[in-house]
Amino acid sequence: MKHKLKTNSGKSLKVDAPAKAWQARIADATDELAVHYVESLSFDRRLARHDINGSIAHAQMLAKVGLITPTECAAIERGLLEILAEIEAGGFVFNLEQEDIHMAVESALIARIGEPGKKLHTARSRNDQVALDFRLWCRETIDSLGGQITVLQRAFVHLAQSQGASPMPAFTHLQHAQPVLIGHELLAYVEMLERDKQRLGDCRQRVNICPLGSGAVAGSTLPIDRWMVAKSLGFAGVSDNSMDAISDRDFAAELAFDLTLIAVHLSRWAEQWILYSSTEFDFIKIADKYTTGSSMMPQKRNPDMLELMRGKAGGVLGNLVAIVTMLKGQPLAYNRDMQEDKRWLFAAADTVEASLAIAAGIVGSTNFKLQSLQARLAEGFMDATALAEYLVGRGVPFRQAHQVVGRLVAQCETRGITELSQLELSDFKAACDAIEKDVYGILGSNSVVKRYISHGAGGIKQLKTQLAKWQRLLR
Ligand code: ARG
Repeated sequence: MKHKLKTNSGKSLKVDAPAKAWQARIADATDELAVHYVESLSFDRRLARHDINGSIAHAQMLAKVGLITPTECAAIERGLLEILAEIEAGGFVFNLEQEDIHMAVESALIARIGEPGKKLHTARSRNDQVALDFRLWCRETIDSLGGQITVLQRAFVHLAQSQGASPMPAFTHLQHAQPVLIGHELLAYVEMLERDKQRLGDCRQRVNICPLGSGAVAGSTLPIDRWMVAKSLGFAGVSDNSMDAISDRDFAAELAFDLTLIAVHLSRWAEQWILYSSTEFDFIKIADKYTTGSSMMPQKRNPDMLELMRGKAGGVLGNLVAIVTMLKGQPLAYNRDMQEDKRWLFAAADTVEASLAIAAGIVGSTNFKLQSLQARLAEGFMDATALAEYLVGRGVPFRQAHQVVGRLVAQCETRGITELSQLELSDFKAACDAIEKDVYGILGSNSVVKRYISHGAGGIKQLKTQLAKWQRLLR
């Protein structure tokens, strides 16, 4: 199809206007199966807003350096904003023949505004365009994940504050180990989540570099102003090597890893609370709205949301493995393999966002069963280490104190005694004469949590410090 075109200087040109941007070189229509195989429009349409914002910044730069006129720029801007409004309202018709969001938007622009639309792609390739869009999407996703993590952290802190002051067993090897305050265990997750947030912030610095202007692979011979585009899109800087910029996806791999670690942390917590909500533990009650029933067993109340959270972590890790494996072995520079990165990163982010939201809901509505917990504190000789440390305080070398207490516990077990505090002073004296009557004051979980004095320990003083810290940091 011949088309009349006006140049910047107003001269008329006749050029071909093919159906697809690259169609002039390729004579045959793409095989129908191949059309579906190659397209990414079905998933990269969620980049539309970023694609259009990037194009507007690009057009403004083209106008500033004189590659398009201010009138053309205004037409492009207006057209793009109309297209965006149409996409967001759900009225835009996506045609898979257009392959991806970049070509879909560009051809809609040309259809809408005509000639100025054909100048938008000046000094630009889909290769730097997709790198730009993807970075903009990652940056926005990082910011919203950070906000979601904070919401979940606040839910944990609130629970630690309202129900965290009683002791509970801390486990090692899933065996009763030493008593800690409930709040201490809850705040362990807040620490993990804080590091997750920091990792995202760190990743953000590497994401926040503008690749636009790198072109297809080698840059451009046109006098573009890359810093202007970067600045208007809020980037901290521009990439320094075009080949790297259009083929680098390590920022995506990095974000996928950060998402994986969040999913893994959530999965660990989910597993903990699945156990705690079981009949065997009976430490917590998850609110009805986060449980499901059984189709056959009428009595059931299953923690399905937590189980799904645990299960979905596997999918997020799978997405990370897919991205890293896709990158492995790719020669410089752009290869179409990279189109798949978005599918996987979108999936990972969607999963983690959904899990974070559900987690905040569950934490905000769960109750600890304090009576049931209190009864379990007597099990497992959790004050044994505190007793050994009591002996250290009386000059007994720790290794020896460990043996003394170990023998006392064994003695309890053979005599059917369940707690060290049930032994007679004579039993203690027989084991070690450094033990005095005041020993009864340090035994039992409720005493132990008052006696922890090391920084970061699971006791009363430390919980106060930690709560103050999080109140300050999460304000
Ligand atoms: N849809 C492609 C992607 O997501 C855009 C880049 C295509 N570039 C190309 N040279 N075929 O990666």
